Amino acid sequence: PYITCIDKETCIACGVCGATAPDLFDYDEEGIAYAKRDRNKGEEMVPVHLEEDLLDAEEGCPPTGSVRVFRR
Ligand code: F3S
Repeated sequence: PYITCIDKETCIACGVCGATAPDLFDYDEEGIAYAKRDRNKGEEMVPVHLEEDLLDAEEGCPPTGSVRVFRR
């Protein structure tokens, strides 16, 4: 299983992650992304049916690699 969170320090609000994986990522009032299922705490397992979206978002976050993915 995967766990994910956004590195809010390096996110440049490009918006790819939420477009790619709308069930996983949303944006705060400044457009900075966060993992919405656990408010970016980096604790919650990503459901299996969203894993592909997650990996697409990770790959699509340019140029900062702010979508963090941890395999447990
Ligand atoms: Fe930020 Fe990357 Fe998403 S720059 S808005 S984490 S695609």
